Amino acid sequence: MYRILVMNGPNLNMLGVREPGIYGAEKLGDIEASLVQLAETSGLELEFIQSNHEGELIDRIHAAYGSSDGILLNPGALTHYSYALRDALTSVDIPVVEVHLSNIHKREAFRHTSVIAPVALGQIAGFGSYGYEMGLMALKRHLEQAHSQS
Ligand code: DQA
Repeated sequence: MYRILVMNGPNLNMLGVREPGIYGAEKLGDIEASLVQLAETSGLELEFIQSNHEGELIDRIHAAYGSSDGILLNPGALTHYSYALRDALTSVDIPVVEVHLSNIHKREAFRHTSVIAPVALGQIAGFGSYGYEMGLMALKRHLEQAHSQS
């Protein structure tokens, strides 16, 4: 049983209301509920946090040290500039998958850069909420492989 922390950053609490043409009609709660279902059949235990505050996200990453096996992270706009969030991830050295609902690479130029991607296992972008499911499965596979090699 792997423990995965599912983190969502600023403005993702507004899903369903916020620019539905870009981010879809689903609310964050709907996405989390689907992940819980997937986790039940996949032997994963999930914890969730959404915060609009960089420091709160950083504190949660620190708290994950020694208690979470992996992190599924949509950092929202922090993706593009938060070295502090990135440093928090490298401080705890927990495998991270970065996920975005939209394809950040075909949007405004400032969204093309992720300061998180270089410290993540990988990035999934452009598949809407399905990206979270893919991210969870990618983390599971990574953890299983790492475990079988140790
Ligand atoms: C986002 C993309 C970011 O550029 C944006 O600031 C968000 C959401 C996405 O899921 O597509 O808040 O991370």
